[in-house]
Amino acid sequence: MAGHKVSANSPIGVFDSGTGGLTVVRQLRNLLPNESVVYFADTGRLPYGTKPQSQVREFSVQIGEFFRERGAKALIIACNTATAASLSALEETFPGPVIGVIGPGAQSAIAAAGTEGKVGLIATDGTVQSGVYDRELEDLGLKSALVKQGCPDFVTLVESGLEDREAVQGAVKRYMKPFHESPVDALILGCTHFPLLSEYIAEELPGVKLVDPAIQTVNNLKQMLEERGLLAEPDSQAEYKFFVSGDVEAFKRNLRMVLGRDDYPVEHVAWQ
Ligand code: DGL
Repeated sequence: MAGHKVSANSPIGVFDSGTGGLTVVRQLRNLLPNESVVYFADTGRLPYGTKPQSQVREFSVQIGEFFRERGAKALIIACNTATAASLSALEETFPGPVIGVIGPGAQSAIAAAGTEGKVGLIATDGTVQSGVYDRELEDLGLKSALVKQGCPDFVTLVESGLEDREAVQGAVKRYMKPFHESPVDALILGCTHFPLLSEYIAEELPGVKLVDPAIQTVNNLKQMLEERGLLAEPDSQAEYKFFVSGDVEAFKRNLRMVLGRDDYPVEHVAWQ
């Protein structure tokens, strides 16, 4: 890590196009309560899921640089779309451990359904089209083809604070159709915004195991930090700091929705 001075108590950088990555922060707070977090929500340029991969990669590398400048010791790409587009680019450019959510998501799906089971994927169109989940699951031995559905409207509904229950229920009914036609044992919530819709999806698909990649992501990161002697000391007080490229008040409302509080520092960042 030449020129990149970090210590065990340096923060972990976490980013997403918006609110979704907070579902990963929620697990970080549960499982690694001594770790400090700097979070970047790129709401000014959201959604990522409908943009070309090359553009999402450019954004991700720019955000990696932002975290490097702020002394982050590690990076979580808390966005499936950005993981599909830019995991290797960030591994090359960020001077510390980098983890995305897709590998851990695939691992969790196999743990839930087994290699003989049927697995479904809901994600952004970008993630579905990338085929990254298909490849990861095949490498882990999954026998049957994934049943996949892009759900772009879910992202917009979550960003607006899930205020319109009827619209949410309507979108869930519409997007879950393929899983009535081809039933699955486990469904990967392959966009970090989607665990916030779990209760609606569970109601529509009773008996299907819903897979949130966040827990496995945090467990894998814990191991990576342990191996490098970079886990925060047990007496260290975690600090959380949020940066957002879009509207600060809307983000604070979503902080309250996901983390149950909005008294963390939130700063607006205007990209050049
Ligand atoms: N939360 C992101 C993901 O996991 C993407 C949402 C978006 O389209 O911006 O894929």
